[in-house]
Amino acid sequence: MTTTNTRHMTTQGGFNTQILPWRLYQKAKKLTWDPATIDYSREKADWDSREDGMKRLVARLATTFMIGEEAVTLDIVPLLRAISDEGRIEESLFLTTFLGDEAKHAEFFRTWFDIIEDGSSEKMDLEALLTDSQRRVFDDELPHAMGRLDNDRSPEAFLDASLTYNHFVEGVLAMTGYYTWDKMFSMQDVFPGMRAGLEMVQRDERRHLAYGTYLCRRIVAEHPETWPFVEKRMAELRELGLKFVDDIGAAIFDEFRANAGPGVDAAQFEALAQGIMAEFTNYGQDLLTRRTEAIAVARTTSDIEGGLEEDE
Ligand SMILES: [Fe+2]
Ligand SMILES: [Fe+2]
Repeated sequence: MTTTNTRHMTTQGGFNTQILPWRLYQKAKKLTWDPATIDYSREKADWDSREDGMKRLVARLATTFMIGEEAVTLDIVPLLRAISDEGRIEESLFLTTFLGDEAKHAEFFRTWFDIIEDGSSEKMDLEALLTDSQRRVFDDELPHAMGRLDNDRSPEAFLDASLTYNHFVEGVLAMTGYYTWDKMFSMQDVFPGMRAGLEMVQRDERRHLAYGTYLCRRIVAEHPETWPFVEKRMAELRELGLKFVDDIGAAIFDEFRANAGPGVDAAQFEALAQGIMAEFTNYGQDLLTRRTEAIAVARTTSDIEGGLEEDE
């Protein structure tokens, strides 16, 4: 007696090589990199020559990157499981590279801290640098939205996972973080190892984001009635994002205020601080609007891959 097992695409004519997840999977293999081969030789000297206030600022930003990467490594698993259970083999293949990417990102940032702390008698208390909003996003919102897929495979549950993970954490928070780092250090020839790693990380993240847009568009196209949920969740995430940026800004400027010498003009400092915060807040808000618009494309066209090539 013969049986048909539709679970195995490899015996049913093979993979669908025409869809975006397949192309992203191919690209991920081609563009693979290893955090262990980054040249970290200048990082320690650059770190040691920064003054204390700058060290705290650098540590705060790098810690945000690092815990974000650790969180997304741990929290991607329910999505991979849920997509696999639906038999979407090409998406599953891509997600295996996605998980591997996040693991490397987490390794990269921890390696960087190991290098700059090498030989220090006292290790920095990085946990103490985390703000309430960071804990809320990485310890509550993200694991909750992803873990929901363990018991709920509704279109809203998939959207909740992708909006929170891909569009908010990767597409808004991480991108705003890279922008901030770039603004601070692109004019200075410092931390070349961090810069090289960040470039590799961002290249990977563009693929992750392209997949997140594909995923949300696929669901919205199949279930147009879910659009109000997308708008509602994005509005919640906008509030969360504003608080996230505000909290980091407040922590950084509080430290500068506390350590500023007598020569600093307080009013001038506050104006400068507010201007800087407004720039980063606007940047993040713009990104969030663009993410929503990218998903909304699925409401008016059946071509859910349109315009995603440039994100890859
Ligand atoms: Fe990452
Ligand atoms: Fe990512």
